[in-house]
Amino acid sequence: MAVNRVLQVLFFLQSVALLGLIMHWSRNCDSCVILKTAMINQATGNMYSKATSVPFASTERGQLSNCTLNDILQRPGVVMLTITNLGFLDMTMNMLASVRRVGICVNTTIIAEDEKVYKYLHKKAKGDPAVHVAMTNSGLMQPGEVKRKNARTYFDLLKKRQGYFLSLLEQGFEVLFTDSDTFWFRDPFPYFQGDFDMSMMDTNSPYPTRTSRAQHCSGFIYMKPTDVTLLFVKEWIRSLKGKHIMDQIVMNKLLQADQPVHVNIKPLDIKLFPPGPTFYEFLAKNASYSAVVMHAATIHGHDEKVQKFKSSNMWLVNASSDELVAREQSLYVGPYTSN
Ligand SMILES: *[C@@H]1O[C@H](CO)[C@@H](O)[C@H](O)[C@H]1NC(C)=O
Ligand SMILES: *[C@@H]1O[C@H](CO)[C@@H](O)[C@H](O)[C@H]1NC(C)=O
Ligand SMILES: *[C@@H]1O[C@H](CO)[C@@H](O)[C@H](O)[C@H]1NC(C)=O
Ligand SMILES: *[C@@H]1O[C@H](CO)[C@@H](O)[C@H](O)[C@H]1NC(C)=O
Repeated sequence: MAVNRVLQVLFFLQSVALLGLIMHWSRNCDSCVILKTAMINQATGNMYSKATSVPFASTERGQLSNCTLNDILQRPGVVMLTITNLGFLDMTMNMLASVRRVGICVNTTIIAEDEKVYKYLHKKAKGDPAVHVAMTNSGLMQPGEVKRKNARTYFDLLKKRQGYFLSLLEQGFEVLFTDSDTFWFRDPFPYFQGDFDMSMMDTNSPYPTRTSRAQHCSGFIYMKPTDVTLLFVKEWIRSLKGKHIMDQIVMNKLLQADQPVHVNIKPLDIKLFPPGPTFYEFLAKNASYSAVVMHAATIHGHDEKVQKFKSSNMWLVNASSDELVAREQSLYVGPYTSN
């Protein structure tokens, strides 16, 4: 008994010393956040470092989501996933604002691709039962906007997503992946009922038929953790390895060839889930009311997207990404900002 107790105390002291060391490193350099994250991941066996939320009452509302824990528990086994960096922070906040505005509550995971955006969102998500902010586990990216014309970096950023999908699917979650340049008018989840592996919008085939010319959009995709989905996502990752090619092109090639398996895709109606240009066409004809979620895909560039959102009263954020971060820093000095 006494020996046990001594061992417990020793273990505790060792843990404290290790934690102290980690804290010390973290204070002294910015990049040590990665190390710290890696160590936490190792300790917990996690793919991501999760935001450690303070205990909250089940009726308390989160700042980002305006949802309570009770709300989140109404949609068990589902995770909404998005990825962002500092350049797209304002866009991400705009999407989250649109989701909050229509009162959708879902367990949300945001993966941060750089430290600044991680710090900002982690702080905002503190105590929010709906939002988990995680640091990327597959290498940091540049914090600025990754432009399409910088194809190599752009494609490299896109092809990190499949690893995140797989990790959540392997934990048995149904995953709704959404790009941050989406705007939600209504709850999309009722459209993901029924028997399927993946659900996406197809820009080429006449809805709801799937033709051999199908071009599915991977920027808004619902995945069920079926054997087929798991096999497919693994092959998708394998096919992207070492290549600088757009992930969506590879996905469509595999889907068309039924490689490695035939995927049962539930089509999303383009009228309800329109890409940017289609949405604005409808809007010009006063038919936009039908949209559930619009995706500003094919409106290229951050500033162009913001302009377009503003033109249709769909910009709910009143500051740029840098201003958002600066505003926060003037109120609070984070734990990693000592240098
Ligand atoms: C948060 O949700 C509650 C309950 O639906 C609603 O009454 C309130 O207006 C919402 N607040 C914001 C800021 O959206
Ligand atoms: C929410 O999603 C995270 C994955 O990011 C998971 O670890 C957590 O258990 C989920 N929470 C609930 C209530 O399902
Ligand atoms: C759309 O509606 C607005 C007002 O709701 C109206 O001023 C405009 O003329 C309409 N446009 C078309 C193409 O019907
Ligand atoms: C922007 O919104 C935030 C949060 O709602 C508010 O605190 C701030 O005063 C607003 N700033 C401006 C310039 O409107």
